[in-house]
Amino acid sequence: ALRQRYDPNLVVAADVRPPKNPNLLAGGPFELLDVLDRSRLDKLIRQYRPKQIYHLAALLSATAEKNPLFGWQLNMDGLLIVLEAAVAHGVAQVYWPSSIAVFGPDTPRDHTPQVTIMNPNTVYGISKLAGEQWCEWYHRKHGLDVRSLRYPGLIGYKSLPGGGTTDYAVDIYHKAVAGESYECFLEENTYLPMMYMPDALKATLDLMHAPAEQIKVRTSYNLGAMSFSPAEITASIQQHEPGFEVTYQPDGRQQIADSWPASIDDSKARQDWGWQPDFDLDKMTADMLLHLKQMQPA
Ligand code: SER
Repeated sequence: ALRQRYDPNLVVAADVRPPKNPNLLAGGPFELLDVLDRSRLDKLIRQYRPKQIYHLAALLSATAEKNPLFGWQLNMDGLLIVLEAAVAHGVAQVYWPSSIAVFGPDTPRDHTPQVTIMNPNTVYGISKLAGEQWCEWYHRKHGLDVRSLRYPGLIGYKSLPGGGTTDYAVDIYHKAVAGESYECFLEENTYLPMMYMPDALKATLDLMHAPAEQIKVRTSYNLGAMSFSPAEITASIQQHEPGFEVTYQPDGRQQIADSWPASIDDSKARQDWGWQPDFDLDKMTADMLLHLKQMQPA
């Protein structure tokens, strides 16, 4: 999305290993970078002099529960290293994603407000909540223009899911397109906030381009688009694939899902910088199925 908007040669992609997506290599500069390696980050910042850093590296909820200390180290130290480097080198802006995982079992589940009881009970959620407070601190103490969104579960066709609790809503489309049935790891009536990737990209770029005085929340903004259950996404897919079948076999991820909001009140984002999603469940389903079918080997 950034390379579509700017000169692609000025958008440096970085990851801890070479990208599977060849466009990342072909479309502009790519650098190998472990975000925990401060000296390499310093070297790349000196080399490219970026105005903005989008720092996305993290372990997601289910993976971090299995590997808690590494999850904490990557999610927390990674953020602090980026914030410190941004201050040291005068990088103008930092983007860092937070998540619905900052909320916990004591949080009101429906239309969860921007400011409410948090008490997350996953390693991932604890790291995201602490990270939000660090972002606010760096803004207040150092004037760093760091901005953040609490993403709902993100659904896209370009990359496979990796270790999240909301991943079922990506996997399910892949199975439907392959003509297979799907065994869902959440119960059929578990509602979670979700968002289609084009909306997540739009929200991220809109937030980052809004005038600084419009950004009133310096921890992280609630962000919503839709809320559905496994039963509802199944019904949405069945409108296109009537024979598609889903069975339910909840695992440890059910507990994580039960501790998160079912839907989000994102009125602050709407008021402050004009947030408005484009996709609901059925529009997303039509677009996902279309793209995944086009990507299938002939
Ligand atoms: N999608 C993430 C996860 O499921 C939540 O931010 O871990």
